[in-house]
Amino acid sequence: MGFRHFFLSFLLSAFFLSEVSISSSSSLACNSNDLKALTRLSNCLESVIAGWNSVASPDCCNWTGVTCDSSTVSGRRVVGLELGSRKLKGKICESLADLDQLRFLNLSHNFLSGSLPDDLFRLQNLEIIDISSNDFVGPINGGMCALSSSIRVLNFSDNHFTGGIPKDLANCTSLHHLSFHGNYLSGSLPDGVFQLQNLRELHIQDNRLSGPLKNGVANLSNLEKLDISSNLFSGILPDAFGNLTRLEQFSASSNQFMGRLPISVVNSPSLQMLILNNNSLSGPINLNCSAMKNLVSLRLGSNLFSGPIPDGLSFCRRLTALMLGHNNLKGELPINFKNLEALAHLSLSNNSLENISSALEILQHCKNLSMLSLTFNFYDEEVPDSGNLQFQNLRGLFLAKCRLRGSIPQWLRSCTKLRLLDLSCNRLGGSIPSWFGKFKSLFYLDLSENSFNGEIPTSLTQIQSLRSGNVSSEEPFTILQLCHNHGQGGPSLIYKQISALRPTLDLSYNMLEGPICPCFGDLKKLHVLKLEKNNLSGSIPGSLYTMRNLEILDLSHNKLSGEIPYSLLKLSFLSSFDISHNQLCGEVPKGGQFDTFPDRSFDENNGLCRGGCTCESEKTPTHSSREKKMTIFGWQFGVGAASGFVLTVTCCYMSGWMIPMPRKRKKAATRIIYHEAYSS
Ligand SMILES: *[C@@H]1O[C@H](CO)[C@@H](O)[C@H](O)[C@H]1NC(C)=O
Ligand SMILES: *[C@@H]1O[C@H](CO)[C@@H](O)[C@H](O)[C@H]1NC(C)=O
Ligand SMILES: *[C@@H]1O[C@H](CO)[C@@H](O)[C@H](O)[C@H]1NC(C)=O
Ligand SMILES: *[C@@H]1O[C@H](CO)[C@@H](O)[C@H](O)[C@H]1NC(C)=O
Ligand SMILES: *[C@@H]1O[C@H](CO)[C@@H](O)[C@H](O)[C@H]1NC(C)=O
Ligand SMILES: *[C@@H]1O[C@H](CO)[C@@H](O)[C@H](O)[C@H]1NC(C)=O
Ligand SMILES: *[C@@H]1O[C@H](CO)[C@@H](O)[C@H](O)[C@H]1NC(C)=O
Ligand SMILES: *[C@@H]1O[C@H](CO)[C@@H](O)[C@H](O)[C@H]1NC(C)=O
Ligand SMILES: *[C@@H]1O[C@H](CO)[C@@H](O)[C@H](O)[C@H]1NC(C)=O
Ligand SMILES: *[C@@H]1O[C@H](CO)[C@@H](O)[C@H](O)[C@H]1NC(C)=O
Ligand SMILES: *[C@@H]1O[C@H](CO)[C@@H](O)[C@H](O)[C@H]1NC(C)=O
Ligand SMILES: *[C@@H]1O[C@H](CO)[C@@H](O)[C@H](O)[C@H]1NC(C)=O
Repeated sequence: MGFRHFFLSFLLSAFFLSEVSISSSSSLACNSNDLKALTRLSNCLESVIAGWNSVASPDCCNWTGVTCDSSTVSGRRVVGLELGSRKLKGKICESLADLDQLRFLNLSHNFLSGSLPDDLFRLQNLEIIDISSNDFVGPINGGMCALSSSIRVLNFSDNHFTGGIPKDLANCTSLHHLSFHGNYLSGSLPDGVFQLQNLRELHIQDNRLSGPLKNGVANLSNLEKLDISSNLFSGILPDAFGNLTRLEQFSASSNQFMGRLPISVVNSPSLQMLILNNNSLSGPINLNCSAMKNLVSLRLGSNLFSGPIPDGLSFCRRLTALMLGHNNLKGELPINFKNLEALAHLSLSNNSLENISSALEILQHCKNLSMLSLTFNFYDEEVPDSGNLQFQNLRGLFLAKCRLRGSIPQWLRSCTKLRLLDLSCNRLGGSIPSWFGKFKSLFYLDLSENSFNGEIPTSLTQIQSLRSGNVSSEEPFTILQLCHNHGQGGPSLIYKQISALRPTLDLSYNMLEGPICPCFGDLKKLHVLKLEKNNLSGSIPGSLYTMRNLEILDLSHNKLSGEIPYSLLKLSFLSSFDISHNQLCGEVPKGGQFDTFPDRSFDENNGLCRGGCTCESEKTPTHSSREKKMTIFGWQFGVGAASGFVLTVTCCYMSGWMIPMPRKRKKAATRIIYHEAYSS
């Protein structure tokens, strides 16, 4: 017994000793000061860092995210901390500054808060700091790079930093990447920035920076990417880009720049992306495409550019995105645009263009054209009907608010990849062709505010993507919607990425007649169905309840009769419902979403009530008085009539997704909405 116990202890201690000698001989453990600093750092945090445990592993060099060098003098030194995306919470304490050999610090994508340790920039060996996407606050430390002049990368983006950009940045002589974007920085761009001659990327977009962009930018001859968009910069753009021979991307959108495009910008051979939309720039669009051989994306929308669309643009052969919407451009599309073979996204909306026949004739040669917005142009022209036009790759066509005449053109049939089609607010007539059913990918169809007549083709319910398909569009194309709030100030603009558009069928404000086919129930992916202001008759099909995803259903201002099917209670996502101004009767279904719809949704019918009536008992003669029609207890006739009138004079009733929750509907009825594709 005693012997066995002794033998076991001997074995165990021999094993232990050998373990220790192996680990100490094969590699040194981490420096004890570094171990202390890391332990304190981890104790400061509110969350535990997985894989950091001085009991289980006293060698901090094998903790997750810790990198050590191979020095042998006093243990290995910590040179790197990579703790990105670890869900870390709490504050960073000063002990971080005790890691005096630290070169690489990555704390990005956590929930760290508080201000940065004062001594962060005392660390002389720092090369890379990435603390982006956290909740850090306060000013960015001064004394930057006074000791740590080897810093190459500073990424402070997406935090809550305030104050100005540090004035002493000039000491960061090695800096090649500087990101401060997505904070609350204010003040002007300090001159120190222009002394950073190794700078390759400068990202300061989405702050509150102001003042001019100075000529000093010419000093940054190694710059490849410059993004100063979404700030309050003003004045003219400096003609200082001639020295920036490596600049590939320049974005200054959503500022207050004015004046003309600088000569050195429009002659830059290196620029691939030039993004200046949403400023007050003016003059002609005078790009020199003989020089700008690499231009791929040009976004100049929402400015004050004037003159014709320059023919010269057609020599920028690599252009894939050309966004010139919302300017003062005039005349016809230059014929040479047919040479833009790479063009995929084109927006010319809200200009004063003429001759849609010629424009489409030209653009059909751009075989890669995928998104096209011509909205708000070509007033009162006739839409060409030629079956010869071919747009085989077109996924989105926005041709609204042009007061176009004619009918749905035959050439649309060739657009078999169509996903979004907006022809709203024109003067198109005739019937809706049954071949719309063949558009397998169509998920957003707006034909509202036209003069279409005849029945709704049942083939619309065959559209594959609205029955069972994928309904989204990833393309980076922005729609601009303009709302006129009558009596509530001027028009306001609302921007929406097309990727955010919901599956919609809007045929409202036409002259469509006949019944609503029960087969609409097959559109299981549809979110918005708007059929108001037509002459539809018959009853509301009970099968509509199978449109499981429906959020908005507007059947108001038609001639629908019979009862409201109780099955509609199963539409559990329905948040907006309107059947006012029809000839419906009987009981409003009780429960579910129906309890949340305002009385207004049921106004002006032939005897609808919230319980206790049937169609038979309430049936009224055809020439009933208004009082007779409004047999519903407590429902206000006055409001219904007033909003009905406003609806009638409204040019273009809001598209489905704009309709606010029921409580706000009264306001909604007094708006005019336009759509416009817009450069982003
Ligand atoms: C660190 O080393 C200890 C002992 O050598 C080992 O048990 C542990 O698994 C190691 N941890 C990591 C994260 O490699
Ligand atoms: C920091 O880590 C994140 C992952 O959390 C990574 O995306 C990022 O590239 C890293 N930063 C640097 C400078 O390597
Ligand atoms: C911060 O900038 C660096 C330098 O380009 C980059 O490598 C890193 O990915 C950025 N961090 C994040 C989280 O994107
Ligand atoms: C650079 O750092 C030194 C200290 O090393 C300091 O005296 C100087 O003012 C700094 N320069 C700038 C522009 O901040
Ligand atoms: C351009 O860089 C040089 C050298 O760093 C510097 O002396 C000069 O002041 C800079 N010019 C501007 C306008 O910042
Ligand atoms: C631009 O480059 C030219 C020639 O390379 C040089 O003479 C000039 O000083 C530079 N301008 C600025 C503002 O850096
Ligand atoms: C245009 O810029 C203004 C500020 O100049 C900003 O408020 C607005 O949101 C911007 N619009 C878009 C669509 O970016
Ligand atoms: C346009 O660029 C070409 C090539 O760089 C150049 O030769 C020509 O002078 C430029 N034209 C104008 C009007 O600046
Ligand atoms: C179209 O642009 C003009 C100015 O170019 C502007 O006044 C008007 O409001 C714009 N219309 C829309 C709907 O954006
Ligand atoms: C047209 O698009 C296709 C697919 O995206 C691409 O491979 C092709 O290079 C494009 N054509 C041109 C001329 O850019
Ligand atoms: C439109 O352009 C075509 C072809 O360039 C031309 O034949 C026609 O006359 C133009 N129409 C008008 C109304 O200018
Ligand atoms: C739906 O989209 C996904 C991802 O984009 C794709 O993998 C899948 O094939 C699509 N399904 C259909 C029916 O188009």
